[in-house]
Amino acid sequence: MKDNEKLDIYYKGKLVLSDYEKARKKGEKNPYEDLAIAELEGHTVGKDEEKTDSVTIIKKLGKDDAIYDLGDKPGCLNKRGYSYVNWNTDDPAPHVDSFKSLYKSIPFFIVLGDEYCYGIFADNTYKTTFDFGYENTDYYFVEHEKGELDYYFMPGNDMAEVVGLYTSLTGTTPLYQRWIYGSHQSRWGYYTQDEVLDIADKFRELDIPCDVIHMDIDYMNGYRVFTFDDKKFPDVKGLSEKLADRGVKLISIIDPGVKKDEDYFMYKEGMEMDAFAHDTDGSVYENAVWPGTSVFPDFTKQSVRSWWGDKTKILLEHGISGIWNDMNEPASFNGPLPDDVQFEYGAHEKVHNIYGHFMAKATYEGLAKNDGGKRPFVLTRAAYAGSQKYCGGWTGDNHSIWAHIALSLEQVCNLSVSGLAMCGSDIGGFGSDTTPELLVRFYEAAVFVPFFRNHSAMGTRRQEPWQFDETTIDAVRKTVKLRYRFIPYIYDLAHECEKTGAPIVRPLVYEYPADKHVRNISDEYMLGSFVLVAPVIAPGKEAREVYLPDGDRYDYYTGEKYSGGRYILADAPLDKVPVFIKAGAIIPVADGEIRSTEDITEDKISILTYPGKGSFVHYQDDNETFAYRNGAYNAVEYTLDGETLEKRVLHKGL
Ligand code: GLC
Repeated sequence: MKDNEKLDIYYKGKLVLSDYEKARKKGEKNPYEDLAIAELEGHTVGKDEEKTDSVTIIKKLGKDDAIYDLGDKPGCLNKRGYSYVNWNTDDPAPHVDSFKSLYKSIPFFIVLGDEYCYGIFADNTYKTTFDFGYENTDYYFVEHEKGELDYYFMPGNDMAEVVGLYTSLTGTTPLYQRWIYGSHQSRWGYYTQDEVLDIADKFRELDIPCDVIHMDIDYMNGYRVFTFDDKKFPDVKGLSEKLADRGVKLISIIDPGVKKDEDYFMYKEGMEMDAFAHDTDGSVYENAVWPGTSVFPDFTKQSVRSWWGDKTKILLEHGISGIWNDMNEPASFNGPLPDDVQFEYGAHEKVHNIYGHFMAKATYEGLAKNDGGKRPFVLTRAAYAGSQKYCGGWTGDNHSIWAHIALSLEQVCNLSVSGLAMCGSDIGGFGSDTTPELLVRFYEAAVFVPFFRNHSAMGTRRQEPWQFDETTIDAVRKTVKLRYRFIPYIYDLAHECEKTGAPIVRPLVYEYPADKHVRNISDEYMLGSFVLVAPVIAPGKEAREVYLPDGDRYDYYTGEKYSGGRYILADAPLDKVPVFIKAGAIIPVADGEIRSTEDITEDKISILTYPGKGSFVHYQDDNETFAYRNGAYNAVEYTLDGETLEKRVLHKGL
C-alpha cells in the first residue's frame, strides 16, 4: 500500500474497520498554560519530539466501541479513552491508572462495537504507543517508533472467536501440572531452608491447603543464578524431599543478570561462548542488578537459550519443580540499558520488549528437555505476545492497598483475554504493609484466579495467614478450601484453554458481549461460563452490589435463585466471597479432606448441577506429563436437561 492509500475491511459483507481519512488532530494546547510552564521550568516549551522512523495505523473509532486487552496495563478493563505505551517497565511505585507501561508488552487488543467484534495484533517489538480515543474520540492509533507495520486483523462474532483466532496464531496457554493450580506461598524472603519447612508445616497444622513454596533470591550464593547458599540452604534436595512428604513442591527464582565474577561458572562459561549482550564498541555490556555488576545473556541467540536451558538441570537435581523468572524486562539498577546495546536479533530498542519472552522460552525448553517428560512451569514478570506458550505471568510488584485488589482483577481479566491465561497478582500485596482484612479480601478476590500466590516484600509486614488472628486464619482457610473444591473444574477449563484459547477466568464482557452493562465490569469475573465471582474490594463491607447478567443464577452458598439482567445486593461478611452459578451448570468439584492437590483423587470428585440446560466435558489425565497429548486421558461429556444429568464417554485412554 502507498502512503496515502486507505484501507476498508469488510467482514461477512459488513464494513467493520476503516482507516481514518484525515491526519491526526491533536487536542489544542492552551497557550497561556504553555507560557506558564515555560516560566516555571525556565525554558521555552518545545515541540513534540519528531519521530522520524515511526510507523502508525490510524483507524476510525466507532461511537460505542469498547477496547480490551493489552495485557497487564493498569486502569480500567475497557481501555477506550486511554493511551498506553508498550515498553516493559519495572516501576516499584504503586501502580496507578496513569501508568502508561508495566512489565509486559502484548500488542493485541479487541474492539467490541455494537455490530462487530475484531482483534488487532500489531506485531512489532519496538516501543509502541496505543491511543484508544484519548487524543481524539474519532479515531484510535498504534504508533511503532521503528520497524515494520505488520498487523493482523482478526474478526469474529464475539470476543471468544477473536481470542480463539489470536491464540491459534500466537499459541494457547498450555495445561499445567495440576499442582500449579493449587495455593502458592512466597515471601522475599525465606532466609533458611528450615524456615521454608516450617512454613509448610504451619500450613498443615492450621489445615490450610498449600501446594507450593517459592524461594526468592535469598537461596542463592550472593545472588549468583543457578547456585545455592551453602550455609542457609545447605541441602535443598533434602528440603524438597521433606516437602514432598507433606505434598508440597518448591519453585525457585532465577533472574537474567549474571554476576561479573571471574570465579563464577556462569560468568566464565558465558564469556567463553560469547553469551552476553555487547556495547557498540564490542565489549560486554555491564549494568547492576541484585548481585552487583552483572552481564545480560542474549536470549535471542539459540546457543544461549540451550546453554541456559541446560542449567535447569542444576535446579531439577535439587528437587525444584518450577522456575520463576524475574527482572527480565530487563530491569537494571544503573539506569536503563541504552537503546543500542547489541543482541543477536538487533539493538536493545528492538529486543527490550521480547527479552523476558526469550528468557522464558529458554527456561521452558530446558525444563521440557530435562524434567523427565513433566509439563514445565515457568512464571515470568516480563512478556510479549505468544509468551503464554512458555510461561504463566504474575503482575509484578503491587502493593498492600485496597486499590490493588481492583487492579489485580482488571489485569487478570485483560491478561486472560490477551492469551496469557495462567496469570495472577501477589495476594496480600507485595510492597507496603497489609492488614488482616485486606489480606482476606485479596485471597477472596483471587479465589478462582489461575495463579494463586501470597507474596510480599522484604521489610514489609509478614503476611502468611497465621501472622494474624483466628478470624483472619479462618477466613483465609475457608477461601483456600473453596478454591481447592473447584480445582477439578479449573483443571477442566485449563485443558479447554489449551485446545481453544478460551481463558480460564474471563471478564463478564467475554461471556455477555451484547450486554452494555458489563463493558467495564472487572470487580466481578467468570470462572469458565458457569461461575460468577463478585469479591469485596473495599474495606468495612458486609455486602456488595452484584450485577447479574441475563439468565437465572443460584447463590452458591444458599441455593437461592436469582433472575439476571439486574443488580442485587449480596451478603458478603469477611469470610464470604459472593459466588453465583448459572442455571444449567455442571461443575466437577472435590470433596473431603484436602491438604494439597495430591489429595484430589477421582473418588473425591463429584458433579454439582444447577437445574437448567447445559453441557460440560470433564477431563482426567495423569496430572503431570504430556502423555495426554498421545491419548492418555479420559473425557466424559455431561448433559443436563432440567434436573436430569446424562453421561457419555467421549474418550477412554487411562
Ligand atoms: C522483584 C520481584 C519480586 C521479588 C523481588 C526480589 O521486585 O518483582 O517479586 O520478590 O524482586 O527477588
